[in-house]
Amino acid sequence: MFVKVEQDYAAMSERGARIVAEVVRQKPHAVLGLATGSTPEGLYRCLIQIAREQNLDFSQVTTFNLDEYEGLPAGHPQSYHAFMNEHLFEGLGLRKEQTNLLSGMASDLAAECVRFEEKIRQAGGIDIQILGIGGDGHIAFCEPGSSLGGRTSVVALHTQTIADNARFFERTEDVPRRALSMGVGTILEARMCLILAKGEGKAEPWANMIDGPVTSQVPASALQLHPWTIAISDTAAASKLKNLDYYRHVDRESADQPVLPPWIMQTDLDPRRQAERSRLSSAE
Ligand code: PGA
Repeated sequence: MFVKVEQDYAAMSERGARIVAEVVRQKPHAVLGLATGSTPEGLYRCLIQIAREQNLDFSQVTTFNLDEYEGLPAGHPQSYHAFMNEHLFEGLGLRKEQTNLLSGMASDLAAECVRFEEKIRQAGGIDIQILGIGGDGHIAFCEPGSSLGGRTSVVALHTQTIADNARFFERTEDVPRRALSMGVGTILEARMCLILAKGEGKAEPWANMIDGPVTSQVPASALQLHPWTIAISDTAAASKLKNLDYYRHVDRESADQPVLPPWIMQTDLDPRRQAERSRLSSAE
């Protein structure tokens, strides 16, 4: 994991946006994995600004979102469809057919999850997956205890999440109790991951993700097994890291190193594909 600490939320968002912009610059038909929540809002704002100022073309990208609530139509203001339209898609001028979100309105939710995974495969896999981290160490809607090999599925929301969301709905019975979410296994297949955290409230899960053991109790810790994850936070979220000075040192010393993995452009170089190929050839 490449751990980066920025002074504040604005600097962290800008650094994240520059990385996503670089992916699109090098690979105009990139497949972007997107997240909702308050954390990536700043990154999305910067990305729209970069696209405008540098004339960066997003017309060939495809996007996939991590998750969506069950039972909320795309037009519902609390749906992640609505969030993405407001915070990114309109600003980048993305066409509807470029974007993919799970439908929480599908009559067969299990089939919807299978369809979504198939669509990711058909698009060639996700190049960069943007992530936030929950206060309990979750990523997407993969709560503590989720399988670290899990695929996209219907998940029961944590009782705390249901309680937190109640304020956005007029009637308690309208508050979603389940969601559709990529699994940790789906996320780990992205060619690179970019996870962000801001504020003191994330200091503990952030330290657990980076310094703690890999455990399903902290689903984000599975990213330690990913070959190219960039973890960017502000100083408040980094405050509980055991090796903070060392991470800052490594970041300074690697200033001239590539930010994107070589296998973004050349899939053959992906160590996971190489391992799979040698497994297959030894089985022949
Ligand atoms: P937040 O949520 O960005 O609103 O803090 C992150 C998450 O829970 O995944």
